[in-house]
Amino acid sequence: MNDFKNIYNEVYKRGNLYKINKKLNKNPLLVSSKRKNSVAILGGMLGDEGKGRIADELTADFLKNYKKVLHYRDNGGSNAGHTVEIGDVRIALHQLGAGVLQKGCTAVLGKEMVLHPEDLVAEIEESKLAIGKKKLPSTLVIDEMAFLCLDTHRAFEAVLKNKTSGSKGATGRGISPAYADVIYRNPLRIRDLVSKNWKEKFSKHYKHYQLLVKGFGYTLSSVDVPRLGKSNIKVGSLNKMLARLEESRKVIKPLVASTYNLMEKSWNSDSPVVFEKAQALGLDKRWGVYPDVTASNCGFDGIFSSTEGVVDHNNIAVKIATIKATYSSSVGSRVLPTAMKGSLAHRIREDANEYGATTKRPRDIAYIDLPMMSYLFKVGRVEYLAATHLDIAYSDIPVKVCIGYKISGKEVGYRPDQEYLNKVKPEYLELPAWDGAKTQNTNTIGDLPKEALQYLAFITQCLNVKLLVVTTGPKREQTIRWW
Ligand code: IMP
Repeated sequence: MNDFKNIYNEVYKRGNLYKINKKLNKNPLLVSSKRKNSVAILGGMLGDEGKGRIADELTADFLKNYKKVLHYRDNGGSNAGHTVEIGDVRIALHQLGAGVLQKGCTAVLGKEMVLHPEDLVAEIEESKLAIGKKKLPSTLVIDEMAFLCLDTHRAFEAVLKNKTSGSKGATGRGISPAYADVIYRNPLRIRDLVSKNWKEKFSKHYKHYQLLVKGFGYTLSSVDVPRLGKSNIKVGSLNKMLARLEESRKVIKPLVASTYNLMEKSWNSDSPVVFEKAQALGLDKRWGVYPDVTASNCGFDGIFSSTEGVVDHNNIAVKIATIKATYSSSVGSRVLPTAMKGSLAHRIREDANEYGATTKRPRDIAYIDLPMMSYLFKVGRVEYLAATHLDIAYSDIPVKVCIGYKISGKEVGYRPDQEYLNKVKPEYLELPAWDGAKTQNTNTIGDLPKEALQYLAFITQCLNVKLLVVTTGPKREQTIRWW
């Protein structure tokens, strides 16, 4: 807590802005000791911080100077959801990474993702429709070893949701049962979907899940499961499920490849590489608010495992975490120590449209929690910050940030455990705010209000990161860069 108070005194009493009002000395993408023009982006808190938008903009930037960019996604599946706005078109992406909408980009869905074939095909179709093209502008490649997440997994998760507390907050997309199948060494991978004897493999799988679901007192065929952009459907009989899969199999088959060599070739070339992680550090099962965490590896280390060691994440030039500048949001069953109640939470939710992109659930709003964030940034080895939603600030309401926790009057730190966090009492600082609406048309650092610059200096010092990007609204052009 004292460290944060010292930084507060330095910024707000002594006027030290830690050079936040100036651009970075060098372009960090071109640092010679790292792999040039490589960048990895993850969520710094609990998801939905706008990492897809940052990945989209960086990819677009690279494509101005380079013919090719590789965009790689390595974790999660249809639980993710982010909206990219290009001109007047809004596109919600789930399993596809942001690079998929750009010509010149090779968009890879990597080895440790869990892919739902029918939702993936629906998403490809919806994206083409939204941009008014018959084909995706990018080259989409799906790793043959990516795992499958099927209606069986969704049904099993629906059943678990009724029976166990750990699954309560889940998106219902079957993510943790799909990853559990990997641990049980029982997974179906994309290569199984495109194999000749796929029906045999999927029949076995269906029967296995029939038994599991029956064990909880339900019948697999009559469990309701969600569909992208449509109403729920029943899993139905084995034949019905196979018939649905057969349709998506036709679309997916030509996109499947082994991406190991592709990655190796790209990584050893001069072409830019953008890694876009899904979910966020605070949803990682090792570091998040357990048990309401996701099942995939949300850290940069997942890039190393998904690419099978081709990419050492320590060699990536720029490792960015994205946060919402003045508040956090959370969707699920976790209860955050800094949860915001009352009219301010309501106002932020409406102003920033804080409703889940995948499930449309209203998101909980919370004050910035520095003990949690600094823990996540440390274990996540974050080096750069992208702060989105700087426009969500009201000049008459101070920005409240939590600088420490106490239990029975004694100072304690963050622990990744809901039971523990239920006991902590947050200690806050109130910082001078600015008129967020006025930042919406600001494109240069110097035009930002003094209070916003002070706040950015404070937060970056507390998190021990360099500022790279700030966004002040949903459009591509509402972005300010520090390099
Ligand atoms: P699952 O990933 O569906 O298993 O859900 C586990 C937890 O992570 C739940 O609290 C979800 O709401 C949350 N979650 C999963 N994906 C996202 C995301 O992309 N944004 C925000 N929360 C997410």
